[in-house]
Amino acid sequence: RNYSRSLFQVQNLTVRRLCHPRVITAVNGSLPGPTIRVSEGDTLVVHVFNKSPYNLTIHWHGIFQLLSAWADGPSSITQCPIPPGSSYTYRFTITGQEGTLWWHAHVSWLRASVYGALIIHPKKGHLGYPFPKPYKEVPLILGEWWNANVVDVEDQALALGVPPNISDAFTINGQPGDLYPCSRKHTYKLKVRPGKTYLLRMINAALNNQLFFKIADHKLKVVAVDASYTNPYVTDVIVLSPGQTADVLLTADQIPGSYYMAGRNYFNAENVPLPFDNTTTTGILLYKGTASLPGTTPKMPLLPAFNDTPTAHKFSSSLTSLVGAPHWIPVPAEVDEKMFMTISLGLSPCGGRATCQGPNGLRFSASMNNVSFQAPTGRSLLEAAFFGLKGFFTTDFPDTPPLAFDYTNRSLAQSPLGFVLKGTRVKKLKYNATVEIVLQNTAFIGVENHPMHLHGFNFHVLAQGFGNFNPANDRKKFNFVNPVIRNTIGVPVGGWAVIRFQANNPGVWMFHCHLDVHLPWGLATVFVVEDGPTPSSTLPPPPADLPKC
Ligand code: C2O
Repeated sequence: RNYSRSLFQVQNLTVRRLCHPRVITAVNGSLPGPTIRVSEGDTLVVHVFNKSPYNLTIHWHGIFQLLSAWADGPSSITQCPIPPGSSYTYRFTITGQEGTLWWHAHVSWLRASVYGALIIHPKKGHLGYPFPKPYKEVPLILGEWWNANVVDVEDQALALGVPPNISDAFTINGQPGDLYPCSRKHTYKLKVRPGKTYLLRMINAALNNQLFFKIADHKLKVVAVDASYTNPYVTDVIVLSPGQTADVLLTADQIPGSYYMAGRNYFNAENVPLPFDNTTTTGILLYKGTASLPGTTPKMPLLPAFNDTPTAHKFSSSLTSLVGAPHWIPVPAEVDEKMFMTISLGLSPCGGRATCQGPNGLRFSASMNNVSFQAPTGRSLLEAAFFGLKGFFTTDFPDTPPLAFDYTNRSLAQSPLGFVLKGTRVKKLKYNATVEIVLQNTAFIGVENHPMHLHGFNFHVLAQGFGNFNPANDRKKFNFVNPVIRNTIGVPVGGWAVIRFQANNPGVWMFHCHLDVHLPWGLATVFVVEDGPTPSSTLPPPPADLPKC
Protein backbone atom coordinates (compact mmCIF):
# COMPACT_ATOMS: atom_id res chain seq x y z
CA ARG A 1 0.00 0.00 0.00
CA ASN A 2 1.23 3.47 -0.93
CA TYR A 3 1.01 6.22 1.66
CA SER A 4 0.80 9.88 0.75
CA ARG A 5 1.53 12.12 3.73
CA SER A 6 0.91 15.86 3.92
CA LEU A 7 1.00 18.51 6.57
CA PHE A 8 -1.57 21.31 6.37
CA GLN A 9 -0.68 24.33 8.47
CA VAL A 10 -3.74 26.54 8.49
CA GLN A 11 -3.22 30.13 9.53
CA ASN A 12 -3.70 33.78 8.75
CA LEU A 13 -1.99 34.95 5.60
CA THR A 14 -1.68 38.48 4.28
CA VAL A 15 -2.08 38.69 0.52
CA ARG A 16 -2.42 41.67 -1.81
CA ARG A 17 -5.56 41.63 -3.92
CA LEU A 18 -7.50 44.45 -5.59
CA CYS A 19 -4.96 47.09 -4.51
CA HIS A 20 -4.84 46.37 -0.76
CA PRO A 21 -3.31 43.91 1.67
CA ARG A 22 -5.95 41.53 3.05
CA VAL A 23 -5.81 38.89 5.74
CA ILE A 24 -7.19 35.51 4.76
CA THR A 25 -7.13 32.01 6.25
CA ALA A 26 -4.89 29.82 4.11
CA VAL A 27 -3.17 26.43 4.05
CA ASN A 28 0.65 26.35 3.95
CA GLY A 29 0.81 30.04 3.08
CA SER A 30 -0.73 29.86 -0.36
CA LEU A 31 -3.95 30.59 -2.22
CA PRO A 32 -5.11 28.18 -3.56
CA GLY A 33 -3.65 25.72 -1.07
CA PRO A 34 -1.40 22.79 -2.00
CA THR A 35 -2.35 20.44 -4.82
CA ILE A 36 -2.46 16.84 -3.62
CA ARG A 37 -1.47 14.30 -6.29
CA VAL A 38 -2.07 10.63 -5.57
CA SER A 39 -2.84 7.39 -7.36
CA GLU A 40 -5.97 5.35 -7.02
CA GLY A 41 -5.48 2.90 -4.16
CA ASP A 42 -3.20 5.23 -2.15
CA THR A 43 -3.82 5.97 1.50
CA LEU A 44 -3.77 9.67 2.35
CA VAL A 45 -2.62 10.84 5.73
CA VAL A 46 -3.14 14.58 6.13
CA HIS A 47 -2.14 16.11 9.42
CA VAL A 48 -4.13 19.34 9.79
CA PHE A 49 -2.77 21.80 12.34
CA ASN A 50 -5.18 24.63 12.99
CA LYS A 51 -3.22 27.78 13.76
CA SER A 52 -6.06 29.99 12.52
CA PRO A 53 -8.37 31.90 14.87
CA TYR A 54 -11.39 29.87 13.70
CA ASN A 55 -12.86 26.43 14.23
CA LEU A 56 -11.87 24.34 11.24
CA THR A 57 -12.59 21.14 9.36
CA ILE A 58 -11.41 19.91 5.96
CA HIS A 59 -13.66 17.99 3.55
CA TRP A 60 -12.33 15.85 0.68
CA HIS A 61 -14.99 16.72 -1.85
CA GLY A 62 -16.08 13.73 -3.93
CA ILE A 63 -13.95 11.13 -2.13
CA PHE A 64 -16.02 8.04 -1.31
CA GLN A 65 -14.43 7.59 2.15
CA LEU A 66 -15.17 3.88 2.06
CA LEU A 67 -15.30 2.79 5.73
CA SER A 68 -13.63 6.09 6.70
CA ALA A 69 -16.59 8.40 7.34
CA TRP A 70 -14.68 9.86 10.30
CA ALA A 71 -12.42 11.59 7.75
CA ASP A 72 -15.18 13.13 5.61
CA GLY A 73 -15.05 16.49 7.35
CA PRO A 74 -18.37 18.42 7.39
CA SER A 75 -18.51 20.22 10.72
CA SER A 76 -21.07 18.82 13.22
CA ILE A 77 -21.90 16.01 10.79
CA THR A 78 -18.91 13.65 10.81
CA GLN A 79 -16.77 15.49 13.35
CA CYS A 80 -16.70 18.39 15.74
CA PRO A 81 -14.42 21.12 14.40
CA ILE A 82 -10.70 21.34 15.15
CA PRO A 83 -10.38 24.23 17.60
CA PRO A 84 -7.66 26.86 17.17
CA GLY A 85 -4.32 25.54 18.36
CA SER A 86 -5.28 21.92 17.87
CA SER A 87 -4.90 19.26 15.18
CA TYR A 88 -6.58 16.27 13.58
CA THR A 89 -5.21 13.70 11.15
CA TYR A 90 -7.41 12.75 8.22
CA ARG A 91 -6.69 9.19 7.07
CA PHE A 92 -8.43 7.55 4.15
CA THR A 93 -7.80 5.27 1.22
CA ILE A 94 -8.88 6.22 -2.28
CA THR A 95 -10.70 3.30 -3.83
CA GLY A 96 -12.56 3.04 -7.08
CA GLN A 97 -12.18 6.56 -8.38
CA GLU A 98 -9.74 8.68 -10.38
CA GLY A 99 -9.75 12.16 -11.86
CA THR A 100 -10.06 15.68 -10.51
CA LEU A 101 -11.51 16.29 -7.07
CA TRP A 102 -10.65 18.87 -4.44
CA TRP A 103 -10.50 19.61 -0.75
CA HIS A 104 -11.98 22.55 1.13
CA ALA A 105 -12.85 23.80 4.61
CA HIS A 106 -16.34 22.65 5.65
CA VAL A 107 -17.25 25.07 8.40
CA SER A 108 -18.66 28.62 8.14
CA TRP A 109 -17.43 30.30 4.96
CA LEU A 110 -13.77 29.41 5.37
CA ARG A 111 -13.63 27.52 2.11
CA ALA A 112 -13.48 30.91 0.35
CA SER A 113 -9.71 30.68 0.85
CA VAL A 114 -9.14 27.20 2.29
CA TYR A 115 -9.23 25.00 -0.81
CA GLY A 116 -7.03 23.14 -3.26
CA ALA A 117 -6.98 20.44 -5.92
CA LEU A 118 -6.92 16.70 -5.19
CA ILE A 119 -5.81 14.86 -8.29
CA ILE A 120 -6.13 11.09 -8.48
CA HIS A 121 -4.09 9.39 -11.19
CA PRO A 122 -4.84 5.89 -12.45
CA LYS A 123 -3.09 3.23 -10.42
CA LYS A 124 0.37 2.54 -11.78
CA GLY A 125 0.47 -0.46 -14.06
CA HIS A 126 -3.29 -0.24 -14.67
CA LEU A 127 -5.16 1.19 -17.62
CA GLY A 128 -4.21 4.79 -18.28
CA TYR A 129 -6.63 7.48 -19.37
CA PRO A 130 -9.35 6.55 -21.85
CA PHE A 131 -8.03 9.37 -24.08
CA PRO A 132 -4.62 10.18 -25.58
CA LYS A 133 -2.08 11.08 -22.94
CA PRO A 134 -1.86 14.87 -22.67
CA TYR A 135 1.46 16.69 -22.95
CA LYS A 136 0.88 18.36 -19.57
CA GLU A 137 -1.73 18.54 -16.81
CA VAL A 138 -2.72 21.88 -15.33
CA PRO A 139 -5.02 22.53 -12.34
CA LEU A 140 -7.34 25.45 -13.10
CA ILE A 141 -9.30 26.45 -10.04
CA LEU A 142 -12.05 29.05 -10.27
CA GLY A 143 -12.62 30.89 -7.02
CA GLU A 144 -14.49 33.78 -5.48
CA TRP A 145 -12.89 36.66 -3.64
CA TRP A 146 -14.11 39.02 -0.91
CA ASN A 147 -12.29 42.12 0.21
CA ALA A 148 -13.96 41.74 3.60
CA ASN A 149 -13.32 38.90 6.03
CA VAL A 150 -15.66 36.12 4.82
CA VAL A 151 -16.51 34.89 8.31
CA ASP A 152 -17.69 38.41 9.16
CA VAL A 153 -19.67 38.62 5.91
CA GLU A 154 -21.48 35.42 6.78
CA ASP A 155 -22.04 36.27 10.45
CA GLN A 156 -23.49 39.65 9.58
CA ALA A 157 -25.87 38.19 7.01
CA LEU A 158 -27.06 35.53 9.46
CA ALA A 159 -27.51 38.12 12.21
CA LEU A 160 -29.66 40.30 9.98
CA GLY A 161 -31.49 37.40 8.33
CA VAL A 162 -30.71 38.70 4.85
CA PRO A 163 -28.64 37.55 1.85
CA PRO A 164 -24.95 38.33 2.32
CA ASN A 165 -22.91 40.92 0.50
CA ILE A 166 -21.78 39.77 -2.91
CA SER A 167 -18.17 38.92 -3.73
CA ASP A 168 -15.70 41.44 -5.13
CA ALA A 169 -14.02 39.28 -7.75
CA PHE A 170 -13.76 35.86 -9.27
CA THR A 171 -10.35 34.27 -9.56
CA ILE A 172 -8.38 31.78 -11.64
CA ASN A 173 -5.83 29.93 -9.51
CA GLY A 174 -6.24 32.61 -6.85
CA GLN A 175 -5.79 35.64 -9.12
CA PRO A 176 -8.57 37.97 -10.33
CA GLY A 177 -6.80 38.93 -13.56
CA ASP A 178 -6.35 41.87 -15.91
CA LEU A 179 -9.85 43.32 -15.75
CA TYR A 180 -9.69 44.17 -12.02
CA PRO A 181 -7.75 47.08 -10.50
CA CYS A 182 -4.10 46.45 -9.52
CA SER A 183 -4.32 42.81 -10.67
CA ARG A 184 -2.58 42.70 -14.04
CA LYS A 185 0.87 41.80 -12.85
CA HIS A 186 -0.18 38.57 -11.16
CA THR A 187 -2.71 37.40 -13.73
CA TYR A 188 -2.52 33.63 -14.11
CA LYS A 189 -0.69 32.65 -17.32
CA LEU A 190 -0.66 29.27 -18.99
CA LYS A 191 2.20 28.97 -21.46
CA VAL A 192 1.60 26.38 -24.15
CA ARG A 193 3.61 24.84 -26.99
CA PRO A 194 1.97 25.02 -30.41
CA GLY A 195 0.37 21.73 -31.35
CA LYS A 196 0.44 20.22 -27.86
CA THR A 197 -2.60 19.05 -25.87
CA TYR A 198 -3.10 20.01 -22.23
CA LEU A 199 -5.39 18.49 -19.64
CA LEU A 200 -7.07 21.27 -17.67
CA ARG A 201 -8.18 19.98 -14.30
CA MET A 202 -10.94 22.48 -13.64
CA ILE A 203 -12.65 23.04 -10.30
CA ASN A 204 -15.34 25.52 -9.34
CA ALA A 205 -14.31 26.44 -5.81
CA ALA A 206 -16.48 29.58 -5.73
CA LEU A 207 -18.72 29.97 -2.70
CA ASN A 208 -21.96 31.09 -4.21
CA ASN A 209 -21.69 31.32 -7.95
CA GLN A 210 -22.02 29.03 -10.90
CA LEU A 211 -19.58 30.02 -13.59
CA PHE A 212 -19.24 30.07 -17.35
CA PHE A 213 -15.69 29.59 -18.67
CA LYS A 214 -14.27 30.09 -22.15
CA ILE A 215 -10.93 30.47 -23.92
CA ALA A 216 -10.94 32.77 -26.95
CA ASP A 217 -10.94 30.87 -30.28
CA HIS A 218 -10.25 27.47 -28.65
CA LYS A 219 -12.45 24.42 -28.54
CA LEU A 220 -12.56 22.52 -25.26
CA LYS A 221 -13.08 18.78 -24.97
CA VAL A 222 -14.64 17.52 -21.74
CA VAL A 223 -13.42 13.98 -20.90
CA ALA A 224 -14.53 13.71 -17.26
CA VAL A 225 -16.66 15.50 -14.70
CA ASP A 226 -16.58 15.03 -10.92
CA ALA A 227 -13.84 12.41 -11.43
CA SER A 228 -16.00 10.22 -13.70
CA TYR A 229 -15.05 9.72 -17.33
CA THR A 230 -17.47 11.05 -19.94
CA ASN A 231 -17.87 10.53 -23.62
CA PRO A 232 -15.70 13.27 -25.14
CA TYR A 233 -17.84 16.39 -25.45
CA VAL A 234 -16.55 19.25 -27.57
CA THR A 235 -17.77 22.69 -26.58
CA ASP A 236 -16.63 26.28 -26.52
CA VAL A 237 -18.01 26.93 -23.03
CA ILE A 238 -17.66 25.07 -19.73
CA VAL A 239 -20.36 25.49 -17.08
CA LEU A 240 -19.53 24.57 -13.51
CA SER A 241 -21.61 24.81 -10.35
CA PRO A 242 -19.78 25.28 -7.06
CA GLY A 243 -18.34 21.89 -6.14
CA GLN A 244 -18.22 20.52 -9.67
CA THR A 245 -15.06 19.64 -11.55
CA ALA A 246 -14.29 18.96 -15.21
CA ASP A 247 -11.30 17.41 -16.94
CA VAL A 248 -10.92 19.31 -20.19
CA LEU A 249 -8.53 18.76 -23.10
CA LEU A 250 -7.19 21.88 -24.74
CA THR A 251 -5.05 21.73 -27.89
CA ALA A 252 -2.90 24.73 -28.74
CA ASP A 253 -4.00 24.66 -32.38
CA GLN A 254 -4.69 28.32 -33.10
CA ILE A 255 -2.50 31.07 -34.52
CA PRO A 256 0.31 31.46 -31.98
CA GLY A 257 -0.48 34.47 -29.81
CA SER A 258 -2.20 35.30 -26.57
CA TYR A 259 -5.79 34.53 -25.67
CA TYR A 260 -7.85 35.28 -22.60
CA MET A 261 -9.40 32.46 -20.67
CA ALA A 262 -12.33 34.04 -18.88
CA GLY A 263 -14.92 33.18 -16.29
CA ARG A 264 -18.09 34.92 -15.22
CA ASN A 265 -21.29 34.31 -13.34
CA TYR A 266 -24.11 32.13 -14.49
CA PHE A 267 -26.82 33.59 -12.30
CA ASN A 268 -30.46 33.09 -13.07
CA ALA A 269 -32.67 33.88 -10.12
CA GLU A 270 -35.93 34.56 -11.89
CA ASN A 271 -38.26 37.16 -10.42
CA VAL A 272 -35.78 38.16 -7.74
CA PRO A 273 -33.78 41.27 -8.54
CA LEU A 274 -30.95 40.23 -6.24
CA PRO A 275 -27.58 41.89 -6.70
CA PHE A 276 -24.82 39.58 -7.91
CA ASP A 277 -21.15 39.74 -8.78
CA ASN A 278 -21.17 40.72 -12.45
CA THR A 279 -17.40 40.87 -12.89
CA THR A 280 -15.18 38.75 -15.14
CA THR A 281 -12.01 36.93 -14.16
CA THR A 282 -9.30 36.29 -16.73
CA GLY A 283 -6.15 34.32 -17.18
CA ILE A 284 -3.93 34.30 -20.27
CA LEU A 285 -3.22 31.45 -22.61
CA LEU A 286 0.15 32.34 -24.11
CA TYR A 287 1.78 30.44 -26.96
CA LYS A 288 5.48 29.96 -26.31
CA GLY A 289 7.66 31.96 -28.65
CA THR A 290 5.11 34.75 -28.96
CA ALA A 291 6.01 36.31 -25.63
CA SER A 292 4.17 39.49 -24.87
CA LEU A 293 4.60 41.97 -27.67
CA PRO A 294 4.33 45.28 -25.83
CA GLY A 295 0.94 46.90 -26.25
CA THR A 296 -0.90 43.79 -27.44
CA THR A 297 -4.01 42.69 -25.64
CA PRO A 298 -4.97 39.02 -25.55
CA LYS A 299 -8.01 38.12 -27.56
CA MET A 300 -11.17 38.05 -25.39
CA PRO A 301 -13.83 35.32 -25.73
CA LEU A 302 -17.47 36.30 -25.96
CA LEU A 303 -19.00 34.97 -22.73
CA PRO A 304 -22.68 34.02 -22.44
CA ALA A 305 -25.02 36.49 -20.75
CA PHE A 306 -25.19 36.04 -16.97
CA ASN A 307 -28.68 34.51 -17.20
CA ASP A 308 -28.13 32.31 -20.26
CA THR A 309 -29.93 29.23 -18.97
CA PRO A 310 -30.20 27.54 -22.40
CA THR A 311 -26.39 27.48 -22.70
CA ALA A 312 -25.99 26.16 -19.15
CA HIS A 313 -28.62 23.51 -19.73
CA LYS A 314 -27.18 22.43 -23.07
CA PHE A 315 -23.81 21.84 -21.44
CA SER A 316 -25.06 19.86 -18.45
CA SER A 317 -27.62 17.80 -20.36
CA SER A 318 -25.14 16.87 -23.13
CA LEU A 319 -22.76 15.01 -20.84
CA THR A 320 -22.90 11.21 -20.79
CA SER A 321 -20.74 8.70 -18.95
CA LEU A 322 -18.17 6.62 -20.80
CA VAL A 323 -19.51 3.08 -20.56
CA GLY A 324 -16.79 0.61 -19.61
CA ALA A 325 -14.25 3.27 -18.59
CA PRO A 326 -12.27 2.60 -15.39
CA HIS A 327 -14.59 2.67 -12.35
CA TRP A 328 -17.71 3.07 -14.48
CA ILE A 329 -20.77 1.50 -12.88
CA PRO A 330 -24.19 0.75 -14.36
CA VAL A 331 -27.38 2.36 -13.07
CA PRO A 332 -28.92 0.38 -10.19
CA ALA A 333 -31.82 -1.38 -11.91
CA GLU A 334 -34.02 -1.95 -8.86
CA VAL A 335 -34.86 0.87 -6.47
CA ASP A 336 -35.37 0.19 -2.75
CA GLU A 337 -36.06 3.76 -1.67
CA LYS A 338 -37.85 6.33 -3.80
CA MET A 339 -37.86 9.86 -2.52
CA PHE A 340 -39.15 13.21 -3.64
CA MET A 341 -37.36 16.24 -2.27
CA THR A 342 -38.20 19.87 -2.82
CA ILE A 343 -35.32 22.28 -2.58
CA SER A 344 -36.29 25.84 -1.88
CA LEU A 345 -35.63 29.14 -0.29
CA GLY A 346 -37.96 30.15 2.50
CA LEU A 347 -38.57 32.45 5.44
CA SER A 348 -38.50 31.68 9.12
CA PRO A 349 -39.16 33.57 12.35
CA CYS A 350 -36.44 35.87 13.49
CA GLY A 351 -35.77 33.82 16.62
CA GLY A 352 -34.45 35.51 19.74
CA ARG A 353 -32.90 38.31 17.74
CA ALA A 354 -34.15 41.85 17.96
CA THR A 355 -34.40 42.59 14.26
CA CYS A 356 -34.43 40.63 11.10
CA GLN A 357 -34.38 42.57 7.89
CA GLY A 358 -35.92 39.98 5.59
CA PRO A 359 -39.47 40.40 4.20
CA ASN A 360 -42.02 41.15 6.99
CA GLY A 361 -39.32 41.16 9.64
CA LEU A 362 -38.55 37.48 8.96
CA ARG A 363 -35.23 35.87 8.18
CA PHE A 364 -34.20 34.19 4.95
CA SER A 365 -33.79 30.47 5.22
CA ALA A 366 -33.91 27.44 2.96
CA SER A 367 -35.28 23.94 3.13
CA MET A 368 -35.71 20.48 1.70
CA ASN A 369 -39.32 19.34 1.89
CA ASN A 370 -39.92 22.42 4.00
CA VAL A 371 -37.46 21.29 6.67
CA SER A 372 -34.60 23.64 7.39
CA PHE A 373 -31.70 21.49 8.55
CA GLN A 374 -30.22 22.32 11.95
CA ALA A 375 -26.80 20.95 12.79
CA PRO A 376 -26.65 19.17 16.15
CA THR A 377 -24.58 20.59 18.99
CA GLY A 378 -22.43 18.78 21.54
CA ARG A 379 -21.71 15.73 19.39
CA SER A 380 -21.39 15.16 15.68
CA LEU A 381 -24.21 13.27 13.98
CA LEU A 382 -21.81 10.46 13.17
CA GLU A 383 -20.87 10.03 16.84
CA ALA A 384 -24.55 10.14 17.79
CA ALA A 385 -25.41 7.49 15.19
CA PHE A 386 -22.35 5.33 15.85
CA PHE A 387 -22.73 5.25 19.64
CA GLY A 388 -26.54 5.23 19.58
CA LEU A 389 -26.83 8.51 21.50
CA LYS A 390 -30.42 9.73 21.88
CA GLY A 391 -31.83 13.14 21.17
CA PHE A 392 -29.49 14.35 18.45
CA PHE A 393 -31.63 13.67 15.38
CA THR A 394 -34.91 12.23 14.22
CA THR A 395 -35.37 9.80 11.34
CA ASP A 396 -38.57 11.28 9.92
CA PHE A 397 -37.12 12.68 6.70
CA PRO A 398 -38.42 13.12 4.11
CA ASP A 399 -42.06 13.48 5.04
CA THR A 400 -44.35 13.35 2.04
CA PRO A 401 -44.79 16.64 0.26
CA PRO A 402 -48.16 17.57 -1.26
CA LEU A 403 -48.72 15.58 -4.43
CA ALA A 404 -49.53 17.09 -7.82
CA PHE A 405 -48.58 20.51 -6.60
CA ASP A 406 -47.39 23.32 -8.86
CA TYR A 407 -44.00 23.92 -7.26
CA THR A 408 -42.81 26.27 -9.95
CA ASN A 409 -45.75 28.65 -10.00
CA ARG A 410 -44.08 32.06 -9.79
CA SER A 411 -46.99 33.54 -7.82
CA LEU A 412 -46.10 31.25 -4.91
CA ALA A 413 -43.53 33.79 -3.86
CA GLN A 414 -45.40 34.60 -0.65
CA SER A 415 -46.99 31.19 -0.10
CA PRO A 416 -47.12 29.90 3.46
CA LEU A 417 -45.35 26.83 2.09
CA GLY A 418 -42.25 28.97 2.08
CA PHE A 419 -42.32 29.12 5.90
CA VAL A 420 -39.98 26.41 7.01
CA LEU A 421 -39.84 24.01 9.94
CA LYS A 422 -36.57 23.50 11.72
CA GLY A 423 -35.16 20.14 12.63
CA THR A 424 -32.29 17.69 12.49
CA ARG A 425 -34.21 15.20 10.42
CA VAL A 426 -32.29 12.47 8.64
CA LYS A 427 -33.08 9.53 6.39
CA LYS A 428 -31.90 6.09 7.52
CA LEU A 429 -30.80 3.70 4.79
CA LYS A 430 -30.07 0.01 4.96
CA TYR A 431 -26.61 -1.02 3.82
CA ASN A 432 -26.55 -1.38 0.03
CA ALA A 433 -30.04 0.10 -0.41
CA THR A 434 -30.55 1.60 -3.85
CA VAL A 435 -31.98 5.08 -3.77
CA GLU A 436 -33.78 7.25 -6.30
CA ILE A 437 -34.37 10.90 -5.55
CA VAL A 438 -36.47 13.35 -7.52
CA LEU A 439 -35.12 16.80 -6.76
CA GLN A 440 -37.66 19.53 -7.39
CA ASN A 441 -36.75 23.20 -7.36
CA THR A 442 -39.53 25.47 -6.21
CA ALA A 443 -40.60 29.08 -6.67
CA PHE A 444 -40.92 29.89 -2.96
CA ILE A 445 -39.27 33.28 -2.48
CA GLY A 446 -37.37 32.96 -5.73
CA VAL A 447 -36.63 30.59 -8.56
CA GLU A 448 -33.01 29.51 -8.46
CA ASN A 449 -30.59 26.83 -9.53
CA HIS A 450 -29.27 24.78 -6.59
CA PRO A 451 -26.11 22.67 -6.94
CA MET A 452 -26.89 19.64 -4.77
CA HIS A 453 -23.85 17.74 -3.50
CA LEU A 454 -23.92 14.23 -2.03
CA HIS A 455 -21.11 13.19 0.29
CA GLY A 456 -19.76 9.64 0.20
CA PHE A 457 -21.23 8.54 -3.12
CA ASN A 458 -21.43 9.28 -6.79
CA PHE A 459 -24.86 9.21 -8.37
CA HIS A 460 -26.26 8.72 -11.85
CA VAL A 461 -28.23 11.64 -13.27
CA LEU A 462 -31.11 9.90 -15.03
CA ALA A 463 -32.80 13.02 -16.37
CA GLN A 464 -33.30 16.71 -15.76
CA GLY A 465 -35.72 19.32 -17.01
CA PHE A 466 -37.73 22.45 -16.37
CA GLY A 467 -41.06 22.96 -14.59
CA ASN A 468 -42.64 20.34 -12.33
CA PHE A 469 -41.43 16.76 -12.48
CA ASN A 470 -44.17 14.80 -14.18
CA PRO A 471 -43.77 11.08 -13.46
CA ALA A 472 -45.91 9.93 -16.38
CA ASN A 473 -43.90 11.82 -19.01
CA ASP A 474 -40.54 12.36 -17.44
CA ARG A 475 -39.82 8.78 -16.40
CA LYS A 476 -39.80 7.96 -20.11
CA LYS A 477 -36.80 10.27 -20.50
CA PHE A 478 -34.59 8.40 -18.03
CA ASN A 479 -31.21 7.43 -19.43
CA PHE A 480 -30.39 3.96 -18.10
CA VAL A 481 -27.56 3.38 -20.59
CA ASN A 482 -24.90 6.05 -20.09
CA PRO A 483 -26.15 8.78 -17.73
CA VAL A 484 -23.49 11.14 -16.44
CA ILE A 485 -22.07 10.16 -13.04
CA ARG A 486 -21.46 13.01 -10.61
CA ASN A 487 -21.29 14.07 -6.98
CA THR A 488 -22.86 17.51 -7.53
CA ILE A 489 -25.87 18.25 -9.73
CA GLY A 490 -26.96 21.75 -10.68
CA VAL A 491 -30.72 21.23 -10.52
CA PRO A 492 -32.04 23.43 -13.36
CA VAL A 493 -33.54 26.77 -12.40
CA GLY A 494 -37.29 26.27 -11.89
CA GLY A 495 -36.82 22.59 -12.74
CA TRP A 496 -35.97 19.10 -11.53
CA ALA A 497 -33.41 16.31 -11.73
CA VAL A 498 -33.57 12.62 -10.90
CA ILE A 499 -30.59 10.78 -9.42
CA ARG A 500 -29.84 7.22 -8.29
CA PHE A 501 -27.14 5.79 -6.07
CA GLN A 502 -26.36 2.75 -3.99
CA ALA A 503 -25.78 3.24 -0.26
CA ASN A 504 -22.79 0.89 -0.12
CA ASN A 505 -20.86 2.80 2.54
CA PRO A 506 -21.84 2.86 6.22
CA GLY A 507 -21.68 6.28 7.85
CA VAL A 508 -23.40 9.64 7.95
CA TRP A 509 -23.48 11.47 4.65
CA MET A 510 -24.53 15.00 4.02
CA PHE A 511 -26.65 15.98 1.02
CA HIS A 512 -26.77 19.73 0.58
CA CYS A 513 -26.76 22.79 -1.62
CA HIS A 514 -23.17 23.75 -2.44
CA LEU A 515 -23.95 27.46 -2.44
CA ASP A 516 -22.45 28.43 0.90
CA VAL A 517 -25.15 31.05 1.35
CA HIS A 518 -27.83 28.33 1.39
CA LEU A 519 -26.06 25.84 3.65
CA PRO A 520 -26.39 27.76 6.94
CA TRP A 521 -29.97 28.57 5.88
CA GLY A 522 -30.69 24.85 6.12
CA LEU A 523 -30.71 23.54 2.54
CA ALA A 524 -29.39 20.18 3.63
CA THR A 525 -30.24 16.77 4.93
CA VAL A 526 -28.28 13.69 5.96
CA PHE A 527 -28.34 10.00 5.06
CA VAL A 528 -27.47 7.63 7.87
CA VAL A 529 -26.31 4.40 6.25
CA GLU A 530 -26.32 1.38 8.54
CA ASP A 531 -23.49 -1.12 8.81
CA GLY A 532 -23.56 -4.16 6.58
CA PRO A 533 -23.33 -7.80 7.69
CA THR A 534 -19.55 -8.29 7.51
CA PRO A 535 -16.43 -6.62 8.96
CA SER A 536 -15.71 -5.23 5.50
CA SER A 537 -19.06 -3.43 5.57
CA THR A 538 -18.80 -2.12 9.13
CA LEU A 539 -17.58 1.35 10.04
CA PRO A 540 -14.61 1.11 12.44
CA PRO A 541 -14.60 3.23 15.63
CA PRO A 542 -13.38 6.84 15.47
CA PRO A 543 -9.68 7.68 15.51
CA ALA A 544 -8.31 8.63 18.92
CA ASP A 545 -7.63 12.25 17.93
CA LEU A 546 -11.18 12.97 16.70
CA PRO A 547 -11.89 16.50 18.02
CA LYS A 548 -14.36 16.89 20.90
CA CYS A 549 -17.09 19.50 20.79
CU1 C2O B 1 -17.81 20.35 -1.21
CU2 C2O B 1 -20.40 19.30 1.80
O1 C2O B 1 -19.12 19.90 0.31
